[in-house]
Formats: sequence, C-alpha cells, structure tokens
Amino acid sequence: MIKFNYFKKQFAICVTTVIGLLLTSCAAVSDTKVLYFAHSLPTSHPVHKGILDMQSILNEKSGGKLQIKVFPDGQLGSEREVLELLQIGSIAITKVSASALSNFAPEYQLTVVPYLFRDDAHLWRNLEGEVGEQLLSSGSEYLLRGLCFYDAGARSFYTKEKPINSPDDLTGLKLRVQNDQMSVSMANTLGASATPMAFSELYTALQQNVVDGAENNIPSFVTSNHFEVCKYYTFDEHTMIPDVVIIGTKFWNRLSGQEKEWLLTASKESVVKQKIYWKETIAEQMEMLKKNGVKFFYPDKKPFQIKSKPVMENLMKDPQMKALIDKINAN
Ligand code: GCU
Repeated sequence: MIKFNYFKKQFAICVTTVIGLLLTSCAAVSDTKVLYFAHSLPTSHPVHKGILDMQSILNEKSGGKLQIKVFPDGQLGSEREVLELLQIGSIAITKVSASALSNFAPEYQLTVVPYLFRDDAHLWRNLEGEVGEQLLSSGSEYLLRGLCFYDAGARSFYTKEKPINSPDDLTGLKLRVQNDQMSVSMANTLGASATPMAFSELYTALQQNVVDGAENNIPSFVTSNHFEVCKYYTFDEHTMIPDVVIIGTKFWNRLSGQEKEWLLTASKESVVKQKIYWKETIAEQMEMLKKNGVKFFYPDKKPFQIKSKPVMENLMKDPQMKALIDKINAN
C-alpha cells in the first residue's frame, strides 16, 4: 500500500508538472487562459455538479477567455497532495473539505468543532457572512485563497457490524476520520479509536476490516459505494464541515482584475445551484439506500453534544479561535 501510494504521488507530481508547462504555453499562444481544477469526488457527486456550473458560468461571463478544466476523482492526488500542488503553482484550483484545509490554514479548524453550527440556516449565515469571509481570506497567507463554500451537509457515523445509538456504542470502534487533528480529536473524545486516512483508501479499509466504520454525509457515503459494506447509518450529525473552492495565490496573482472578478462571480453564483443539487440528491439517495438494505438511526443528539464538548473547549484556549467561535455562537 505504501509503495502504491508513493508511486501514485510521484505520478501525480509528474502529471502536474507537465500540466504546469502546458498551462504556461497555453497562456502564451492565445488570449484564452485555462485553469486546471482538481478534486477528489466522483462525477456523480452533487459537489462536482456545482463545479460544472462554475465552469459554464465562467465560460459565459468571460466569453470563453477564462476557462476551467476539471479533473475529478482524485486523478491528480489526495486533497492534501493537491493543496500542496496549488501552493507550488502546478495546479490552479481545487475543492477540498474545510477540514483538509485546517492542516494548512488553522482558522478552518473551527469548521470541525462538533455541534458548533445549530442548523443549516446558522451554518450559511456564518459562512456567507463575516466569519466566512475571514476564513476564505485566511488561506492567502498560506498561498491558498478561498473563493466560495459549497454545501457538504452534516457528517454522521456509519458502521459495519452494529448501529450507533449513543456515544457508548462508539467505544473501542476503529473509525476512519479525515486526516487532520480536529477530526482525530472529535472521534477520540467521543470514545472511538480514530484512524485517519485518505478518502480514496477507505473502501478497501472497510472491506478488509482495517476500520469498523467511518463518518460522512449521505452523498459521499453513496458515491463512494461505502453503503455496500456499511449497512448502519446514524444521523447524529456531529459536524457540518463545508467544502471549499480554493485557488493557489500563484495563479490568482497572475490574473487581471477583470479575470479575478469573473472567477469570483462564477464561483459565488455556482453556490446557489450547488445547494439545490445537494438537497435533491439526498432525497433520491435515501430512497436508493433503503432499497439496498441500509438502516437509518436517529439517536438523541444530546449525549453526543455533551461528550464532544471538550473539543470546542480545547480549541477555545487559543484567543483567536475563541473570538471566532464566540462570533458564530452569537450570530
Ligand atoms: C466529504 C468531502 C470531501 C472529503 C471527504 C472525506 O465527502 O466533500 O472533500 O474528501 O468528505 O471524508 O475525506
């Protein structure tokens, strides 16, 4: 596995170096600029559909002068690898989970705090308000400028052998979480044994009992086919971690004022439809999951909230994070 990942990474680096060269030459021979956009989700995912909207809005606004070419499915590497490729300027744009970004720009850690956002309205009031703007621009210091947030719903636990009805049911379970400190601490604080790994490795890890379960939103549970292996899905909705569209500042700084405006408007406008795709997809997918023998559970969330409280308390020891979290709570 290690060897395979090593070669995959080397391959991604080679491919992106070639792409980097191609990009430079593209820009030199015509006045059309093509920005490469890599992400890890499959094409059936509602987030990918939002990205395709962004692509067509940009094309329309710029009269084809500024375009996006999309590489889905982790073709160019894991979220972490692609963020690194953005930093060195080999790829222009990506879409990652805010938790992957928290490894680079620490402010994003707050998006991984369990039960911080009370509901959808509270989440979007903050993401599309002052806090969201602050998060998006916080990445620039790390060469990763945020363009917009996409809906990634709420994350819940899903398991292979037994349903989760209370935090006690998590005790001792090996659960895959995303590769960041906050996600690890979330699962461990709830009593599980956190196993961080890349999303692309999870299907095999579930099949081979390397882990007993994982946590994600419904569209990712479905499009990754994890539902074939895990038949228990519990709506504890511990986090609402948005997806984020990011442009590397190496590319951003090379765009003209007009090009920046096209890109910003295209990304912001695409969010409206992406949120609709999200809701429609979930409704359809829930039906499909039921037909495929997945059982849903709706536990009392209170014990999960109480047990996971230390995650927020710990983060709030940092005065900057405390100020942001207080702002969210008061909003
Ligand atoms: C979500 C998110 C992805 C992320 C995945 C994960 O599906 O949209 O960007 O990779 O979670 O759990 O790793």
